[in-house]
Amino acid sequence: MPTDHTRNPLLVALDVDSGDRAIALATELRDVAGGFKIGSRLFTLEGPALVRRLVDAGGRVFLDLKFHDIPNTVAQAVEAAVRTGAWMINVHASGGAAMMQAAARAGSDASALDGRAAPLLIAVTVLTSMDHASLRETGVERPLLEQVVTLARMAQAAGLQGVVASPRETAAIRSACGPEFTIVTPGIRGASAGQDQNDQARTMGPGEAVRAGASFIVVGRPIIAAPQPRAAAEAIIEEISRRT
Ligand code: C5P
Repeated sequence: MPTDHTRNPLLVALDVDSGDRAIALATELRDVAGGFKIGSRLFTLEGPALVRRLVDAGGRVFLDLKFHDIPNTVAQAVEAAVRTGAWMINVHASGGAAMMQAAARAGSDASALDGRAAPLLIAVTVLTSMDHASLRETGVERPLLEQVVTLARMAQAAGLQGVVASPRETAAIRSACGPEFTIVTPGIRGASAGQDQNDQARTMGPGEAVRAGASFIVVGRPIIAAPQPRAAAEAIIEEISRRT
């Protein structure tokens, strides 16, 4: 079991429908997980109070709200997210360079003002639910991987620390953006993360994803829907340490 959770790449997606359930899971997984992801459903149900409860209990929270709006509005949203104590915050890279620069500035200004560590600000490039055809429908003609790498470079140039990417995209982003760039990878299945794909189409095992260059992996159902979530998380951690 890892003792230093800041070096633990396992982020558990708390995709549940109540704050009490999220807190119970986070308590059970506290010293096994490197952090917890709160998405738009749980945030909409429970609000910033839940983020603060998790942070006060010592958890690192990835607030996965994927901001995408005009620069001023995104900057204000990032500032509000920083005030919850969130450790990682994301925006959509397709909001453009000015929007990402405003987000990066707001993240560092708000954290400095509050005397907190600056949040990790990362960008969603192309949603993993999209394929080449659906991307074309939005007017983007270039191949999907090229678009992903272009947006990752834009995010880096705008001052963001990383991106969310499918396991298939990790290697190309790592080579385009260098070793320090944060890559957060969902879609983890197989091996210790269970064989049920759920709705994930392009998956990789936990150890394999970290070896391919992921800085963090996001795992939801293989842990939170397991009969024993803690044992499931421990098996994933063990697989990562065995293979890396
Ligand atoms: O249950 P599962 O392990 O598939 O959960 C993955 C988590 O990562 C979910 O919260 C899902 O919304 C999120 N996610 C994803 N693919 C992305 C971005 C986020 O699966 N591209």
